[in-house]
Amino acid sequence: MGCKLSQLAASELNNDPFERPPPPSDPRSPLTAKQQYCMLASWKGIFRQIEKTGIILFVKLFQENEDLLHLFEDFRHLRTIEAQVGSAELAEHATKVMHTLDEGIKGLNDMDAFFAYVRHVGGTHRQVPGFVPENFMKIEQPFLEAAKMTLGDRYTPNIENIYKITIRFILENLVKGYEEAGKEKENGTSQT
Ligand code: HEM
Repeated sequence: MGCKLSQLAASELNNDPFERPPPPSDPRSPLTAKQQYCMLASWKGIFRQIEKTGIILFVKLFQENEDLLHLFEDFRHLRTIEAQVGSAELAEHATKVMHTLDEGIKGLNDMDAFFAYVRHVGGTHRQVPGFVPENFMKIEQPFLEAAKMTLGDRYTPNIENIYKITIRFILENLVKGYEEAGKEKENGTSQT
């Protein structure tokens, strides 16, 4: 009886998802399965404050790269931080971009879906007059700073490392998507 009970206890232990080793991650993912788990858990904290984090991200982007402001028709006139922070147009765009990042981050457990989605978004920037693909990487630092401000103490060195890997990977794939969309256009194979 005791033996049966301990067998049961042991089997329940093995069924506990926290006791099982995480499944191996897709080799195309830049994160280990454990890092991916941490990323998703931490991202919930950003998601709860998605608009605020997005506004911080864009204000920092424009602070560090004033020349990029003119690309945004709806808020290129916002010259001061106060005006940017209080702008409904900027908040709306920032939230859209953050939701796109959310979709990408959550898509990391299905790499086919991740590549299709993120590269498509990269390609859509071909429609933005004056946009160059180098612009994508300019959002890396502002993104990390915004994440740090929102997460506070929860932004540990481990989480920082995971965010760095993740944002870099997303941005690299936005660039690839932009470049691929250009080749499709040249070859006349564009679907849009
Ligand atoms: C994390 C990286 C980025 C993501 C996920 C992203 C995503 C998006 C999305 C989803 C849109 C469409 C918004 C809409 O439908 O209104 C958009 C538009 C746009 N993006 Fe990005 N973007 C990123 C980085 C950048 C960067 C670094 C720039 C640089 C300057 C930029 C410039 C623009 C511009 C100018 C538009 C058009 C805005 C408008 O129509 O007024 N994006 N982006």
